Amino acid sequence: MKWDKYKGKDIIPLWVADMDFCSPPAIIDALQKRIAHGVFGYTIPPADLNKIVVAMLEAEYGWSVKPQWLVWLPGLVTGLNVACRAVGEDRDAVMTATPVYPPFLSAPGSSRRKLVKVPLREEQNRWGFDFDRLESAITPDTRLFLLCNPHNPVGRVFTHDELKTLAAICEKHDIVICSDEIHCGLLLDSDKTHIPTATLAPEVAQRTITLMSPSKTFNLPGLGCAFAIISEEKLRRRFIAAMAGIVPHVNAMGFTAAAAAYRDCSDWHAGLLDYLRENRNCVARAVNAIPLLSLAPVEATYLAWIDVRSCDLKNPVKSFEDAGVGLQDGIEFDGRGFVRLNFGCARALLEKALERMAAAIERYVISK
Ligand SMILES: Cc1ncc(COP(=O)(O)O)c(C=O)c1O
Repeated sequence: MKWDKYKGKDIIPLWVADMDFCSPPAIIDALQKRIAHGVFGYTIPPADLNKIVVAMLEAEYGWSVKPQWLVWLPGLVTGLNVACRAVGEDRDAVMTATPVYPPFLSAPGSSRRKLVKVPLREEQNRWGFDFDRLESAITPDTRLFLLCNPHNPVGRVFTHDELKTLAAICEKHDIVICSDEIHCGLLLDSDKTHIPTATLAPEVAQRTITLMSPSKTFNLPGLGCAFAIISEEKLRRRFIAAMAGIVPHVNAMGFTAAAAAYRDCSDWHAGLLDYLRENRNCVARAVNAIPLLSLAPVEATYLAWIDVRSCDLKNPVKSFEDAGVGLQDGIEFDGRGFVRLNFGCARALLEKALERMAAAIERYVISK
């Protein structure tokens, strides 16, 4: 999808959030073995997969999860939509903080819920929640908060204090939290740690639906395998009930890849983070050196949320496409005046794209 969009054109595709890298060899081997088996019937999660996930959550986050809390899904977006349908009633409100990954904005409406958007605040070159504004936007029918952490597109890893404050507000107003943590394996700042929302306190876990997947970290989005972790039984039952008859089984390849990802790929993962960290530094240096463009520090993800508001461009994405770089339009994230750049690609390609962007802005400045 990423490369087909500009097929036959000299436009470097740095838009949709997958990486140009091959998946780890251990995953490719596991998939090849599974294919050699030759029978592709209905598949339940492989016996050891739940154990592998439980062990990973314990090792990475000190989070003790029971295998029965896991609900397998063919994608995180499915999980966001199921969460909206599972919590509250028709016409109840679902809140989120913007800009945000577009399905956060569409899932409530698709699920007969009202969307309430509260803007994130950029202060001293750092994005964060505006807790006062957020709390005052809550109404008695607000039932669900869709949280993205690490955050796509602003790249923040929310701190313990930020998450605590958010969870306390949700607690006070009896709001369920759906915590999309798909980017949790992509922390680029070594002094930061990912804190799963549900690990803040047992009472927070009771109201939290966590969504995770190996798809971003190990570059497997085309295999469609994700999972929810829901410790509270009634909430889990409602979630499973909302899936019934609509959400398909996870496919055999997705399960196989997930097991290999979480079991056999830690060295590959460490190497990936080193490479992405350098790419991130390269983007930050280049973008902040281009007049009129700026970028707040990217703490996690391979996505850079670039502020182009100082350029008076009618259609920034079109201008960068004309210069040979395909970016994603901030408008889709409810972030007009921004573009999102995906740096999950070979460094030489990234450098070429950044040079093209610099040249485009230089031409723009001269034309003014
Ligand atoms: C925050 C977030 N959630 C979900 C997804 C997509 O998840 P899936 O492909 O599993 O539906 C993405 C992909 O970019 C994402 O950034």
